[in-house]
Amino acid sequence: MRKKVVDGVSWIGKIDWEIRTAHGKEYSTHKGTSYNAYLIEDEKTALVDTVWEPYADEFVANLQLEIDLDKIDYIICNHAEPDHSGALPALMKLIPDTPIYCTKQATMSLPGHYHQDWNFRPVSAGDTLSLGKNTLTFQPIPMVHWPDSMMTHLSGKNILFSNDAFGQHYAHELLFNDLADQCTLYEEAIKYFANILTPFSPIIKNRIVDFLATALPVELIATSHGILWRKNPEQIIEQYLQWCDAYQEDQITIIYDSMYNSTKVIAETIARGILQHSPATQVKLFHAAKADKNDILTEVFRSKAVLMGSPTFNKGPLSSLSALLEEFRGLKFMGKKASAFTSYGWSGEAAKEMLAQLVDAGFTTTDEGFRVHWRMDTEERAKALQFGVDFASATF
Ligand code: FEO
Repeated sequence: MRKKVVDGVSWIGKIDWEIRTAHGKEYSTHKGTSYNAYLIEDEKTALVDTVWEPYADEFVANLQLEIDLDKIDYIICNHAEPDHSGALPALMKLIPDTPIYCTKQATMSLPGHYHQDWNFRPVSAGDTLSLGKNTLTFQPIPMVHWPDSMMTHLSGKNILFSNDAFGQHYAHELLFNDLADQCTLYEEAIKYFANILTPFSPIIKNRIVDFLATALPVELIATSHGILWRKNPEQIIEQYLQWCDAYQEDQITIIYDSMYNSTKVIAETIARGILQHSPATQVKLFHAAKADKNDILTEVFRSKAVLMGSPTFNKGPLSSLSALLEEFRGLKFMGKKASAFTSYGWSGEAAKEMLAQLVDAGFTTTDEGFRVHWRMDTEERAKALQFGVDFASATF
């Protein structure tokens, strides 16, 4: 069923209320998601993107209820990832000669996925395609977040079809940001940026600057996931520029795992020390093996500094911490401070190991971490408290 975006532009995607992980099991989608595709009906008709493969047949059947497929003059493929291009094979079986406008990189990645030699029309920045009254202008945005990514602007309606950029994994039947829960929208938007786009932050900043330099007017941003930005669409562009720029809030996040609560008590004692020095700072604690990985990474993205705590186990940290440290390395957080702590019985390497990995991931460290032999006694509790005070003092 189509939903009206504006006169002449319809949403024709799939709202996926059921999905709980995306990218395989890599990204938690607590609020579901949507795969947004759009039909633009002018003197010519253009389809912008499709949906994820499991919904391909449903998508094509719905599209056939809305329009004679032979009336689709152009397909715009802003991104080759299968959550947006996944219905192309089913669709192209029915309209095999329809031209597909996409980046040069997508003319390689689409055949890489589907092994079909469709009628590709590669486009470059600023290329246009007239639909009659209104015109599409193409703006490739390589590495936001794939080499083949692109945005497409529709004149007259002043809609920016931004694909993954500015999206969120948030299922919502009413489509528009002014009709969505604002807290959920913000939480899902920042989680999306933190977990997917952070490694490309400097590139994203340049791509946004490039797009703003085109001076193309934007009254609505039509994303490929989640909510469309209809009310004050500039807000998400401005927010992205902040998130791209070594973003941090007044927050310290403590992430720990614990076998017999010794490391947990260190974490809570250090937290008290931080708050003693800096009472207004948001201090958040997460058990690495119990909290959602992507939620933790979002909190790290928000933080000025991070503390990692683990019992020493097989001469290193527990696997829950190691997995997060590997995520840190890939996500390339910028401008954040870090330290580590461990409770140990005989060797105690976990803090040193984690510090080395934090430095390798781009965090700055100013101490050698904190170690406790077995469980803390009164004297060591005072030292842990002081460690928190000193860590906060070095952070702020
Ligand atoms: Fe939503 Fe990069 O695919």
